[in-house]
Amino acid sequence: MHRIMNFVYIYMINMICCTAKCQKWTTFSLAGVFVILGILLVILWDLCLLGWFHGYVNHELSLSNNKTKGYNMWKETPVPMYLQFYLFNWTNPHEIKNASSKPNFIEHGPYTYYEHHIRENITFNNNNTVTFYTKRVWTFLPEQSVGSLDDNITTLNPVVVTVGKIVKNKHVLVKKAVNFLLEEKKVKLAITKTVRQFIFDGYEDPMLDLVHKLNITGFHVPFSKFGWFAERNGSVTYDGIFNIFTGADDIQKLGVLNTWNYQNNISYLRDSCAKINGTTGEIWYPPGNNETVVLFTSDLCSSLELKRNGDYYVHGVVGNKYIGTKKIFDNGTLYPEMKCFVPEDISQQASGIRDVSQCKFGAPAFVSYAHFYLADPSYREAISGMNPSADKHQMFLVLEPNTGMPLKVEAKLQLNLKMEPVEDISLLTGIKSTIMPAFLVHADSNDV
Ligand SMILES: *[C@@H]1O[C@H](CO)[C@@H](O)[C@H](O)[C@H]1NC(C)=O
Ligand SMILES: *[C@@H]1O[C@H](CO)[C@@H](O)[C@H](O)[C@H]1NC(C)=O
Ligand SMILES: *[C@@H]1O[C@H](CO)[C@@H](O)[C@H](O)[C@H]1NC(C)=O
Ligand SMILES: *[C@@H]1O[C@H](CO)[C@@H](O)[C@H](O)[C@H]1NC(C)=O
Ligand SMILES: *[C@@H]1O[C@H](CO)[C@@H](O)[C@H](O)[C@H]1NC(C)=O
Ligand SMILES: *[C@@H]1O[C@H](CO)[C@@H](O)[C@H](O)[C@H]1NC(C)=O
Ligand SMILES: *[C@@H]1O[C@H](CO)[C@@H](O)[C@H](O)[C@H]1NC(C)=O
Ligand SMILES: *[C@@H]1O[C@H](CO)[C@@H](O)[C@H](O)[C@H]1NC(C)=O
Ligand SMILES: *[C@@H]1O[C@H](CO)[C@@H](O)[C@H](O)[C@H]1NC(C)=O
Ligand SMILES: *[C@@H]1O[C@H](CO)[C@@H](O)[C@H](O)[C@H]1NC(C)=O
Ligand SMILES: *[C@@H]1O[C@H](CO)[C@@H](O)[C@H](O)[C@H]1NC(C)=O
Ligand SMILES: *[C@@H]1O[C@H](CO)[C@@H](O)[C@H](O)[C@H]1NC(C)=O
Repeated sequence: MHRIMNFVYIYMINMICCTAKCQKWTTFSLAGVFVILGILLVILWDLCLLGWFHGYVNHELSLSNNKTKGYNMWKETPVPMYLQFYLFNWTNPHEIKNASSKPNFIEHGPYTYYEHHIRENITFNNNNTVTFYTKRVWTFLPEQSVGSLDDNITTLNPVVVTVGKIVKNKHVLVKKAVNFLLEEKKVKLAITKTVRQFIFDGYEDPMLDLVHKLNITGFHVPFSKFGWFAERNGSVTYDGIFNIFTGADDIQKLGVLNTWNYQNNISYLRDSCAKINGTTGEIWYPPGNNETVVLFTSDLCSSLELKRNGDYYVHGVVGNKYIGTKKIFDNGTLYPEMKCFVPEDISQQASGIRDVSQCKFGAPAFVSYAHFYLADPSYREAISGMNPSADKHQMFLVLEPNTGMPLKVEAKLQLNLKMEPVEDISLLTGIKSTIMPAFLVHADSNDV
């Protein structure tokens, strides 16, 4: 019902308050039949020009108070969202020290969840901003999944590579001690767990204890269990506290983040990469003809800039299509302003991945497009099993230009772990430095 109302609303705005091109069409089709309606339209159009209608529409779209239409849609998002996980099964870990064999991956899934967002502890501030938490709740949908949550998947052991990264530049005695512990606990480079454990349930890992004991300043894993989404289901605080503009004073600011966790930049990133900008992706200002839109995601602790790429029709409503381009994961070669995403102590990193280790509790985690789509070919050539294609792996967002209403969302990102040789750690000697895919997520809104 909500969805239908939203729809009628968009139509209404498109009919009455739209661009000149669209008005011509409306006038053409109606004037022949109902001259009076045509005249009414002209009057309404004039009112549009006077601005009162726009004013009204903008007020309803904004988060000016807890009664607007925008507020009600935002507080508890009525549009269904699905989160689909695809996990990569590493089929040949026993060949890892064989120089003539490449790690091979088979994608399994989707394991589909329904994702529901609820804002919590909403506080309106008197400077046209609103502060809130977002609670996300996921429900497994077996009928929309391929495979079962009890499927066994083998991946690079995230805890081992994290420990490797921490001790890499430590004294040889530290490494020897860590190596002893790894051997004693019979830890392997690959780990096999069920899909359920890898995603939401998590699993006990003897090495997590060790990570806690290493007590490295600035490094802490707040969990007792490991799982990519462990302890996130239903958590109010996990995603952090957001402060966004309500659009009450200026509709062009609606949804734009002011601070995240009370900061307006990310402490460990440099220059423009550190800036927390864009919207959270759920409520948008009317983008009109804007060439780019920026969205900030707490999952990456950074922003993504999407670029206009023509129009996209959803049930006859036209929207601006914004796509993920090479720019997002560029290393500064094509877009110098993107260089700041590459850590300063890394001299060489081919385009196509973004280091998010500081956002993932120090794990050597890198985000890319699914299957290294648009990335430097070296990433997919170092392994086997990647088949990037625009059809399947392009990330995009469709926004209705006059209202900013998201008509379609297709966010697709892959999480990878860097496997690196570390001297004196037997598990990590004699291996090639490789970016190893772990899983990909596909966040998908139903068509409105
Ligand atoms: C809206 O806010 C007012 C106070 O500003 C409060 O009294 C009222 O209960 C709120 N309504 C809803 C639906 O949250
Ligand atoms: C993953 O690979 C392992 C070994 O190759 C196999 O035993 C397992 O069944 C695979 N998992 C799935 C879900 O097919
Ligand atoms: C190494 O891998 C190659 C290609 O997969 C294979 O032909 C060869 O037998 C392997 N060597 C060993 C020692 O396993
Ligand atoms: C949310 O508000 C309630 C009531 O004011 C408070 O008890 C709770 O601690 C707040 N939650 C967070 C995460 O701040
Ligand atoms: C508005 O006020 C809130 C709460 O006092 C504050 O967190 C936020 O930074 C302020 N925003 C601006 C733009 O001043
Ligand atoms: C998340 O929590 C909800 C409610 O507490 C529960 O119904 C749902 O099954 C949980 N989802 C997962 C994936 O554990
Ligand atoms: C996964 O592995 C466990 C233990 O080896 C086994 O009991 C279980 O049947 C496997 N699950 C599937 C779906 O094959
Ligand atoms: C961890 O290190 C900090 C200082 O770096 C120290 O204050 C603290 O006591 C240490 N904790 C443990 C459990 O060793
Ligand atoms: C981050 O923001 C603070 C103020 O919130 C400012 O003092 C600081 O210079 C900023 N850092 C960068 C790198 O922009
Ligand atoms: C979008 O376009 C409008 C109108 O041209 C402009 O005022 C606004 O600043 C633009 N927004 C962004 C984020 O570029
Ligand atoms: C954030 O905004 C600044 C200035 O508006 C811009 O220079 C920067 O490229 C943006 N960052 C991202 C990640 O889009
Ligand atoms: C950046 O990426 C490009 C393309 O992948 C590559 O040719 C170049 O060597 C990289 N530069 C650095 C400094 O890593």
